[in-house]
Amino acid sequence: MSSRLSYLSSLSYTLAVIHCNAMFSSHASSVTHRRLKRAFLFPCIQGLQSADVNLGTAIAAAGNRSDAGTYCPYTRNMSNVAIVQDGFNQDDPLSTLKVVNKPIPKPAPGQVVVQIKLRPINPTDFITLRLGGIAQGGICGSEGFGIVHEIGEGVKSVHKGQRVIPFTAYPSLSGHGSYQKYVCLEEDFVWPVPDYISDEVAALFVVNPWASYSIVKDLQVPKGEYLLQSAAGSSLGKQVITLAKHWGIKTINIVRRKEAVAELKALGADEVIVSTEEDVVARVKEITGGKGAYGALDAICGTMTKTIAASVRDDGQVFLYGVLAGYDATVSAIDLVFRRVDVKGWVLYTKAMNQSDRCQAIAPEVAPLLRDGIIPVPKTVKYDLTDFKKAMAKAEEPGFAGKVLLVSE
Ligand SMILES: NC(=O)c1ccc[n+]([C@@H]2O[C@H](COP(=O)([O-])OP(=O)(O)OC[C@H]3O[C@@H](n4cnc5c(N)ncnc54)[C@H](OP(=O)(O)O)[C@@H]3O)[C@@H](O)[C@H]2O)c1
Repeated sequence: MSSRLSYLSSLSYTLAVIHCNAMFSSHASSVTHRRLKRAFLFPCIQGLQSADVNLGTAIAAAGNRSDAGTYCPYTRNMSNVAIVQDGFNQDDPLSTLKVVNKPIPKPAPGQVVVQIKLRPINPTDFITLRLGGIAQGGICGSEGFGIVHEIGEGVKSVHKGQRVIPFTAYPSLSGHGSYQKYVCLEEDFVWPVPDYISDEVAALFVVNPWASYSIVKDLQVPKGEYLLQSAAGSSLGKQVITLAKHWGIKTINIVRRKEAVAELKALGADEVIVSTEEDVVARVKEITGGKGAYGALDAICGTMTKTIAASVRDDGQVFLYGVLAGYDATVSAIDLVFRRVDVKGWVLYTKAMNQSDRCQAIAPEVAPLLRDGIIPVPKTVKYDLTDFKKAMAKAEEPGFAGKVLLVSE
């Protein structure tokens, strides 16, 4: 058990460091690494405890580690219903998932146990499952809403019964996500929800709103210039449209179904191109007077990345931030080399979610934008947590254009 523990712990830490280095490169400070260990390593140990491990065994395991006392041991109460990935099947990840009863975690000093009530099914959850990183009994789930179930000694910022958002996005990469009833996190990875944010909005508060807010800022399209995006009918794509409009940026939006055009226009989209019926590059050139879009966002990957790269100006920037059509992106060397178009991966995990101070800073910036409707919230349908297979099939249904929430009481 202990060698397995240390192997998986170091694997988790390695993954964390890879993610961290991808974004911060040489800026990854020792503080960052300490925080990664707190947010990421210790939950890994927690996830390894099987349902029959009791509090004593968990404490003994903690005692073998130099960082003992900073992760959650378990109670004997087995009512933590969890959707666990047991096995790996990239084409059919649902076949690897099963419902199990796990013990409810007990918070160590400085920690909070949250009872999660609502969690959305996001494309990123499917990516986690399809990549197989948590196939040994991990739990995915990038965000959610809940109430504080129990606090550890010294916790000051939240109290029992309070409405909160547990920042599970980063821990979910190592199998400690929100597709379970109870989750244990460090106090600073839990955020009290303001009264003006409803439970449903709180459940959808992090992944897309933080990403749309941050990615549009990072792209630095000047006022009056065009931002081009693919998958514009997605929840995030709609948020990009409204945020860009709010900031005076014009948008050219690519969708695959013409039924999506009217809704995006009503949201404030300047132009909408249906990729299955129109020549995207030619249309963008026409709209921009031959210049190309100032910058672009691509969530599709595959040959769409090539189309997008060919549609931006010389020296333009493309952020590839999703893999809806697969993991290989095609780009023409003409655009990369001769037009110096910069195509770069962009991921929120390492920008905001892996560090508590960044999470705590971005949350109050985004909350008023949701309150004021500047970031729109998608329509939702609800399924019981244990009905996850039907729910996940619904979430990937073409043309669904909403969010599925998994509910537990
Ligand atoms: N990098 C990051 O940090 C980050 C953060 C958040 C989200 N994301 C990414 O953002 C994207 C959108 O997320 P979301 O939650 O907003 O999604 P969503 O609401 O579930 O919507 C998915 C959208 O993708 C479209 N789509 C799916 N497969 C497609 C394909 N093969 N070709 C063209 N369009 C396709 C669907 O079009 P139809 O309407 O026609 O079905 C739908 O509009 C995802 O790729 C997600 O992974 C990335």
